[in-house]
Amino acid sequence: MDQNDAPVLEALAEHQNLERYGFTPPAHRQGRGVDPRVLDVLGEQSFKSDVVASSGLDDRQSSNGYLQDAESLLAEAVGADMAFFSTCGSSLSIKAAILAVTRGEGELLISRDAHKSVVSGLVLSGLQPRWIRPKWDNELKLSHPPSPETVEEMWQRYPDASAALIVSPTPYGTCADIEAIAKVCHKRGKPLIVDEAWGAQLPFHDDTPTWAMSAGADICVVSVHKMGLGFEQGSIFHLQGDLVDPVRLSQCADILSTTSASTLIYAAMDGWRRQMVQHGKAMIDKTLKLTRQLRRDIDAIPGLHVLEEELVHAEASHDLDIQHIMIDVSKLGISGFQATDWLRENCRVDMGTTDHRRTEAVISVTDDEETADLLLTSLRALAEAAPEMPRPPEVIIPDEKDLFLETVMLPRDAFFGPVEVVPVEEASGRIAAEMATPYPPGVPLLLPGERINKAALDYLRSGVEAGMVLPDPADATLKTVRVVREEL
Ligand SMILES: Cc1ncc(COP(=O)(O)O)c(C=O)c1O
Repeated sequence: MDQNDAPVLEALAEHQNLERYGFTPPAHRQGRGVDPRVLDVLGEQSFKSDVVASSGLDDRQSSNGYLQDAESLLAEAVGADMAFFSTCGSSLSIKAAILAVTRGEGELLISRDAHKSVVSGLVLSGLQPRWIRPKWDNELKLSHPPSPETVEEMWQRYPDASAALIVSPTPYGTCADIEAIAKVCHKRGKPLIVDEAWGAQLPFHDDTPTWAMSAGADICVVSVHKMGLGFEQGSIFHLQGDLVDPVRLSQCADILSTTSASTLIYAAMDGWRRQMVQHGKAMIDKTLKLTRQLRRDIDAIPGLHVLEEELVHAEASHDLDIQHIMIDVSKLGISGFQATDWLRENCRVDMGTTDHRRTEAVISVTDDEETADLLLTSLRALAEAAPEMPRPPEVIIPDEKDLFLETVMLPRDAFFGPVEVVPVEEASGRIAAEMATPYPPGVPLLLPGERINKAALDYLRSGVEAGMVLPDPADATLKTVRVVREEL
């Protein structure tokens, strides 16, 4: 195949050049009917490019196969057997992968630092999760991806599980030893799914952490919008080997997907793949150089510390994606939540994952000296302003023994079964019927089917007081909790 082609993008250009007109959705007719005030903000071109896939971009029978060609080009570029585009984020792709490997029944080994979209997959499928414990770092109060030994132990305990699912890189940039974990799974003939939502750039440069397909994973799910240059919601799943049926995988994606996929999202992913093939190595070279310098400069700001050495060693993570700059602000006497809010309000700079003591800047291939300087100047201003900021309320972090709750009911049964709403003071000892997920990063602390303990509630309540955001519980302040109604 010719990697200089970008079939979806080129078909879109042709659609525009030929001035095709459809008596089909979208009703805006490439922007003709749209309120000028909308066009002012969104631009005419975005509506011009928003065309329906068949009987629009392609003909009624999709006989030109633009999308399939774009997917094959991507698979070839990164060395996977197959690649599928999705326009509903990795949140959809990961559910499709889970359903495809399990057929919606039995057990799945899952790292407990999984994203909330994985938990939604459990609720929808009715699967029994067998949780793989991540390594907990009591000093840093964060978890590292699980070790191959832990995955091996889980297979010994649950040999009938369909597959294992791990997250790597995590939203902190830490990476699992995917190669060793894949071997552990494959020696039992079981597939490994890697949630690599944060890894779009990895296949295109040798100095980044190993990407899941090279390390032997069977399916890997990637959000192009996170670390690649695509629109929000652009996601890909890659497949290799013969442990997962490709037809089942694509049909599982089909039953979850929209029938009105966004051509804008497809075209951007297609163009991004070509750009990465042609220029990715040089772009990432430049980004890594910029990032290394930036990490040193931020670390030199009094009161700030960039996490690096402490994240990668024998008892921690296997590798680190340095483009995630996790900055500890605790020595400034403020919380990560305060830092993130202050930077947005005062410097118009938004940060990523934020917790009680850290704020994170994710550096992309788009960043350059100018944006690096913006970050540095803003962080210096933060360090100067910090002494005047109020001291943050304490967030009560659970001990490791209280951190991982026991799953006593299937997530689906707990979510869909009879529920009641109880004051938080009465929720300890009850079974959660909803998720409570500090966001970002998006790893649920409580999930349906888990027996709630006081330590988890103390953490979440004190977190909310300090600025933590919980997007999923019915009561975001967590004064009340939805729990399973149990017969006495
Ligand atoms: C580890 C992980 N997996 C999956 C997702 C979901 O990805 P998307 O936003 O593309 O749906 C996220 C999003 O933050 C994530 O961090």
